Amino acid sequence: MNTESVNESSDRAAPRVPRGACERVGGLGGFGSPPMNTDAHFMRRALALAEQARGLTSPNPLVGAVVVSGGEIVGEGFHRAVGQPHAEVEALEVAGVKSRGGTLYVTLEPCMHHGRTPPCVPRVLAAGIARVVVAVSDANPLVAGGGIAALRAAGVEVTEGVMAEEARRQNRAFLHAMRAGRPHVTLKGAITLDGKIADVHGTSRWITGREARERAHRLRAECDAIVVGVETVRRDDPELTVRLDRPWPREPYRVVLDSRARMPVSARLLRVGTPARVLVAVAADAPAPSIAALEARGATVVRCPGPTGRIDPRRLLDELHRREVRAVLVEGGAEVHAAFLDAALVDRVAVFVAPALLGGRGAPSLVGGSGRTLKDRVALDDFEVTRLGPDVLLEADVAGSRH
Ligand SMILES: NC(=O)c1ccc[n+]([C@@H]2O[C@H](COP(=O)([O-])OP(=O)(O)OC[C@H]3O[C@@H](n4cnc5c(N)ncnc54)[C@H](OP(=O)(O)O)[C@@H]3O)[C@@H](O)[C@H]2O)c1
Ligand SMILES: [Zn+2]
Repeated sequence: MNTESVNESSDRAAPRVPRGACERVGGLGGFGSPPMNTDAHFMRRALALAEQARGLTSPNPLVGAVVVSGGEIVGEGFHRAVGQPHAEVEALEVAGVKSRGGTLYVTLEPCMHHGRTPPCVPRVLAAGIARVVVAVSDANPLVAGGGIAALRAAGVEVTEGVMAEEARRQNRAFLHAMRAGRPHVTLKGAITLDGKIADVHGTSRWITGREARERAHRLRAECDAIVVGVETVRRDDPELTVRLDRPWPREPYRVVLDSRARMPVSARLLRVGTPARVLVAVAADAPAPSIAALEARGATVVRCPGPTGRIDPRRLLDELHRREVRAVLVEGGAEVHAAFLDAALVDRVAVFVAPALLGGRGAPSLVGGSGRTLKDRVALDDFEVTRLGPDVLLEADVAGSRH
């Protein structure tokens, strides 16, 4: 899929399509769309439906579904939020009796297990669907392949892999978290053209302009946890909240790597949002009184000691995984970026680049630590470039990281 079109549709993060809205096939498509009446065409529509709930479904994936009968869309649906009906069920409800003998297009394999809602496969069978087209199988070990097998066993024709790459990208974080057993990690930062994240005085506000900062808030809205180092808290005193032009119903965890519990109790982090969703990760020898003071302010203190006396990023991710975090945004600073990269725990980067130069040997760059040799550099794949006012957003996957 054209990634820009995904970005554009994610502009509309709040669902806009009224429940059960139907469109005639002839009204869809446009430049660059697959030809009408093909599997790819209907799957593209299902992907666009799913996209409307971006940032709202976690820990569940984004899923869209379309029911087609006689070459015409007779039902559409998407998963809107946890606890809400699954996409297939929504689409089948709209289609009603028109589902009988029809084709169901769904971006992710239908589920067979009892989760927060009943399984979808029996519902698909009861509706009399003759054919199911699936973009990707669900990596969730509770589902993986079982839904497709159950449909086939019941005599339903199943086609897999239609627009699979687009569907995998759409649920990058969810699929990764299911496969790897840990959240998907995006390293995010704002740099000058010479790679600096702050000037020689440690000042970083603001490196980029309004459009870039707005996009950064959208990245926050789409993640489940924002992670920073204690030096960033001490220096910038950030809120780490999602600030968009409309209220946002979900609040990512705000996480601080703070081995010795040095975070000031007066930090702004603890004065906005839900303090209990501020997780302060401490190591073994954090002083008990400092921990008690943070807890008294409502913060949740978690212990993630590593061998160097600092936070073990892997243990922190395990802790977040237990809390059903799928997507993590590591927002700096330089040392924390280095810690995640050195532990090979970065899957993607999102770097805003401003057309400016700062210089200064002492000014931090995007990644601190002891650095790497050219031979051991972290290679990036699948570059995407987006212009945002005067700035540029570069996004890429870390080579070898699966999504
Ligand atoms: N432009 C941007 O996008 C951006 C974003 C964020 C920050 N910044 C700038 O970056 C600067 C701060 O960056 P920084 O690199 O000095 O600090 P940092 O990465 O924010 O925090 C580093 C601190 O985290 C703690 N930590 C805990 N576990 C760690 C681990 N495993 N590895 C590394 N650190 C660990 C350490 O303190 P303990 O040993 O006490 O735990 C360490 O001193 C500020 O000037 C800020 O303005 C810029
Ligand atoms: Zn389901």
